[in-house]
Amino acid sequence: MRLPRPRGPVSRGVVDALRGDQDLDVAALTARVEAARGDVLHDEDLQLALWVCYELHFDGFEETDARVAGPDPEWDPDLLRLRAALEARLEERLRELTRDDVEAALAGSDDVAARVFAQAEAADGPSLGRFLQREATAEQFTEVLVHRSLYQLKEADPHTFVLPRVPGRAKVAMAEVQFDEYGAGRPERQHSTLFGDGMTELGLDRRFGAYVDDVPAVTLALNNAMGLLCLHRRLRGAAVGHLAALEVTSSLPCRRYVQGLRRLDLSPAMVDYFDEHVEADAVHEQVATRDICAALVAEQPELAEDLCFGVAVCLRMDELLAGHVLDRFRAGRSSLRADDVSEAVA
Ligand SMILES: [Fe+2]
Ligand SMILES: [Fe+2]
Repeated sequence: MRLPRPRGPVSRGVVDALRGDQDLDVAALTARVEAARGDVLHDEDLQLALWVCYELHFDGFEETDARVAGPDPEWDPDLLRLRAALEARLEERLRELTRDDVEAALAGSDDVAARVFAQAEAADGPSLGRFLQREATAEQFTEVLVHRSLYQLKEADPHTFVLPRVPGRAKVAMAEVQFDEYGAGRPERQHSTLFGDGMTELGLDRRFGAYVDDVPAVTLALNNAMGLLCLHRRLRGAAVGHLAALEVTSSLPCRRYVQGLRRLDLSPAMVDYFDEHVEADAVHEQVATRDICAALVAEQPELAEDLCFGVAVCLRMDELLAGHVLDRFRAGRSSLRADDVSEAVA
């Protein structure tokens, strides 16, 4: 993928450094990150900067892959220092956002799996699934898929980083879930490939990151939250909780997506993608809650609280994105940035 268009001074600093145009002024940029006002989850500049830092650990960028001189960007100490400042802001905000959810979860059942289900049931945000099932136009449906493409085209990859960090039974169960996500031995059945096939059928660009310039901060923040939890060993409990929340909140909404696509007579390949999740995730949610989450906490009880944190992060970020999309749709607007890119810095 190509580096995205910067959205402010911090993302510009990161992108310029990765292009090799300019050295990273880590002190000045870190100071900017620390001084940034407003809700960091909606900060276009900071979320894009962090997203670029994280993507260096996944598919990377054509511009950096082509570079022969200089430090390896993935492990450049200056970039990692700036990333740490961005992550500190994000984690602080996520902890604050989910504090009450975590407290309520811990005050509930002692059973770890039951607690995950209870957290998901307690979430009462706006339902994107219901809207897509009954009301969305084909254009709106496609837009939602564009938001989702930032995760779905690398589906399961963030959590794979967690595998070596969990012990015994939890690791085995997690490998089982990931095996399914990666197509259970059939490359053409990888969930990211199925999603890409649907995108192609809909006339969308299936290359990872093709739409990064179009999605707002909140979409990047949802992915950055996943990156934060999955790339830090210290947060492995939260990463596992996040995975479980994804699985627990998948089966029913995917059924709604299928019904919406059929109502609009859209892409059979995209129907296939969501259909696959109706059945698979009904199984995955059991494996994730009982064999991964409960097994992990049985071995490492100190992770119990962070596990609830990870569940809550997944649910709250989903809710924020759904809220953004539905607010825009109800106002007759697009949920993508094309509608409000007068602030484009590039
Ligand atoms: Fe999947
Ligand atoms: Fe799954």
